[in-house]
Amino acid sequence: MGPVRSSLPPLVPVLALLTLVPHSESKVTLKDSPSFVQVVRNENGLLECEIAEFSGSKMTLQNSSVLWSFTNGAEKSNAFVYISGVIREKWKEAELLSSSITHGNMSLLLKDVAYKHAGQYQCEVYIPPNDKATKTVTLEVIARPTVIVTSEKTVEVGTGGEMALSCQLSGYFPCESNTEWLQTTPAQGKLRVLTDVCIAPPVKNPDGTCNISTEVRLEPGVEDIGSTFTCRVFHKSFTKPYQVEALVTLKEAEIHLSKASIIGSIIGSIITSVLVLGLGIYFYMRFYYKVAPYVSEIQKPVKVIHREPAELTCQVSGFQPSVITIAWYLKRLKDAEMKLIAEWQEDNVFHFPLSKAKKIGKAEKKNETDDWKVRAGRIQKSGDGTFSISSVLEIYPDIFMDNEAEITCKVIHPSNSEAICKKIKLHVDGIPPKLARIIKPPVVLHNSSVMLTCPIICFKPRPVKITWYKNVHGQKTPLLVLDNANEKNIFPDKYSHYMRRFNYSDCTVSVYSTIRFNATIQEEDKSQYFCAVEHIGLTNPVEEQVQLDVKAFPSLDAILSDPVNPVIGEMLTLTCRVHSFYPESITVHWLKDDVIVESKTPKTDLNSKHELHEFISSFTITPTVSDLQSKYKCQVDHESLMYPRFAEYIPENLVSHPTVSEITCSPDIPEVEKELTLTCTISDYYPNDIQVEWFRNEVRINSNVSHEKIEEQSSCKDGLHSKVTMVTLTPSTDDHQAEYRVEVCHSKSSTKPIKKNFQLTLKGSPKFSVFVMEPENPSYGKDLSVSCSVSGISHPNVTVEWYKASQLIHNGVTKTKPILTSENTYKVDARLKFFVTAEDFEGELFLQYKDNDKGDTFKRDIHLPLQAVTPEVSEIECQPAYPRKGERAILYCKIDHFCPVDILVVWSKGWTECKDEKNTETPKINEKGLYSTVTHLPIDVVEGRTEYICEVRHLKTNDIVEKTYVLHV
Ligand SMILES: *[C@@H]1O[C@H](CO)[C@@H](O)[C@H](O)[C@H]1NC(C)=O
Ligand SMILES: *[C@@H]1O[C@H](CO)[C@@H](O)[C@H](O)[C@H]1NC(C)=O
Repeated sequence: MGPVRSSLPPLVPVLALLTLVPHSESKVTLKDSPSFVQVVRNENGLLECEIAEFSGSKMTLQNSSVLWSFTNGAEKSNAFVYISGVIREKWKEAELLSSSITHGNMSLLLKDVAYKHAGQYQCEVYIPPNDKATKTVTLEVIARPTVIVTSEKTVEVGTGGEMALSCQLSGYFPCESNTEWLQTTPAQGKLRVLTDVCIAPPVKNPDGTCNISTEVRLEPGVEDIGSTFTCRVFHKSFTKPYQVEALVTLKEAEIHLSKASIIGSIIGSIITSVLVLGLGIYFYMRFYYKVAPYVSEIQKPVKVIHREPAELTCQVSGFQPSVITIAWYLKRLKDAEMKLIAEWQEDNVFHFPLSKAKKIGKAEKKNETDDWKVRAGRIQKSGDGTFSISSVLEIYPDIFMDNEAEITCKVIHPSNSEAICKKIKLHVDGIPPKLARIIKPPVVLHNSSVMLTCPIICFKPRPVKITWYKNVHGQKTPLLVLDNANEKNIFPDKYSHYMRRFNYSDCTVSVYSTIRFNATIQEEDKSQYFCAVEHIGLTNPVEEQVQLDVKAFPSLDAILSDPVNPVIGEMLTLTCRVHSFYPESITVHWLKDDVIVESKTPKTDLNSKHELHEFISSFTITPTVSDLQSKYKCQVDHESLMYPRFAEYIPENLVSHPTVSEITCSPDIPEVEKELTLTCTISDYYPNDIQVEWFRNEVRINSNVSHEKIEEQSSCKDGLHSKVTMVTLTPSTDDHQAEYRVEVCHSKSSTKPIKKNFQLTLKGSPKFSVFVMEPENPSYGKDLSVSCSVSGISHPNVTVEWYKASQLIHNGVTKTKPILTSENTYKVDARLKFFVTAEDFEGELFLQYKDNDKGDTFKRDIHLPLQAVTPEVSEIECQPAYPRKGERAILYCKIDHFCPVDILVVWSKGWTECKDEKNTETPKINEKGLYSTVTHLPIDVVEGRTEYICEVRHLKTNDIVEKTYVLHV
């Protein structure tokens, strides 16, 4: 147990202590222990969780609970569950003793830890009644590497040989590690870290652990003898670096001299002089005994490529002494004789056998024409004292010059009077072109230009023959032949051609041959094109092929709607015409606000002229208010299109007809001098523009001048508008039986106004009947009879009288006495008969009822449907008819049959108005009931021609009548 921070000793006394203070605030805390634990695989790990402090009521650890839960990513499980003294759940590798729990030690021991145990652990301690504490511990499982060091057992130094040491780490985790090689040399007694180290990247094992190997290669010298080599490993699982020593011993090299040792064995025991003799023989063998060289066949690469460096090797071995000449010759097909390329000579006569002399004399001689080179390796001495060398000819062949050329390696050695020659034939190959797929446009469109490109890639040498073909009725027809820059275009009207060439540093070439033509469905759909290529590096032509699928993309006309002005709640059909596409297969979607609401594969029609297809798609909706914000799309998918095409429709002309209620009156039964309100509700219309007008007895109510007041209340719900219009007035008896009308004009949805009528009937008022006229259409100069009855009168003490312009009328009036009707009220019939004149035009005529008891009067106007009449103007006459010069005369003119009375008469003489002289009589009613008058103009008669004009303007009708009179004296 770690140090306890508080002054609390072990928990048992605490228990005792706590029982003494039963009512204090309870609290449990856990000891501060590592929340991160690293455990080596296959070892035991302890996850610490101990109670540090506990103060509270009854400490009942026996009844307490402990839960160790485990999570690793998505994986969850309980490692240990202890509830009220009973272990309910437990991993078999987990250990926690109940006795330990009762002492406040909840630490969990995990045995033989494996990788699966890595993760998060939570220790949850619960002590009744309500004390709780938790702690989280992260467990990392690590694995120690197995370190294996391999090496040779013994290594001879000084022979120029290499030695390899390898240090392999396997099965370790985590995968970060570091390895180094150390050398301890006895002479210096110092540690040296080796640098020429080769570390492969770590490899993963299936269990997640890693392997890595670190190799070092060295060429030890004599000074290294006695050294030790150690591999040092750094890894998380080692507290200090782990070291393994390589079991290698460095020894001085023995001299192997086959012949010398034979002699040595014969005279092994003979002393120095014999040894001297032996050495003498040895030196002879080494330097004066001549052995002829063995010359191998010339080695060459499997393939010699045009304008690519290649090496030819001539191996010369087993010769002695080391004096030698190697020469290379070339004989091209066109050459008659071999030509020397280069010569190499070794002429060092004396080599001290035991020294490590590496001197090489070189004599290079360049051929004037070629950059070919001879490179000789260093002369090698083998164990038996003979020499060997390899001579390398670096060539840079050209297929046109060097193919089938003969190459000779000639070796001259003192042991032979004749040179040894080895010959080979050089085959120079080109690099054949590779054809990539013919490049065609992703979509070939009807009636548009198409380019097909044949990529001929990385070949050499340059000449290449390209032929384009087309499959016409199953037959390959050549279109274009390109042979070494010569172009033969067989159909120049249809095809054009161009080529791009790319040269690369290794002398290879790529060529892009492109033909271009116009594609139509009729000519090119499903047509096949071929690109064939011939080249020196190919035995047979290579070919690529492409098939064209010609397409035409669909065009969409604007969406049409039926009706043009759609109405909310009424069916609306949208149609979309899609045309000029190919091939036939197409799908159409109808979208509302970018969501597909209908998909179809339409039936299409063929437009025979162009082989193009078309169709009309329709879609029916019943628009609602929400469609005011909607967008409809007709969208087509077709293989010619990268993205679908669409036409859009926004129901911007969507309207909703207003609903107009009947006019209601509040109060229901209005009374004289009590305010009343007429209300009309106009609802659910769209758009908002609406005109509402009120009329009283056919006259528009203008709030500013009328005694009625108009008020409006507008509202809007779900995009639809409503309006309540009210007319407020305090009625007088004059308003009795007034006709109120509301006219609603919603011009966006209908040109016809909607009208609602209401007749105001005041409480307790008599009822005037409709005026009956006879004849129905009154005319001037004729008699007219107007009758009306007043009913609903409560008592007979009433007066009914006719008035014309506030003037009581007596003539032509007939009245009945008040008659009691079946409703127990009285009724009076009144009739007026009179001669209609122009004075009645727009004149006031009314029937007045008077309640003689109460004094109330009611009147009812009658409007006579009389027309204004334009005057008839006579020709101007002169009196006397033939006046003489110097006389006075009068011009006069009759103005007849007009109504109303207002006229304006203007006399003029020539261009001058005669203002003062004119005289027009006051119009009088004539026998036709219309006005008539005469106008005069007194004149002074002068010699010659004088023109007089009388202009009569009728103000009501705005008609002008003009008369002219010419006086000749
Ligand atoms: C708690 O228990 C574990 C194992 O059960 C033990 O290793 C550890 O030492 C204990 N701690 C103390 C403080 O006794
Ligand atoms: C890692 O090394 C072990 C022991 O040398 C070997 O069995 C195992 O195949 C190696 N793993 C890999 C992935 O090479």
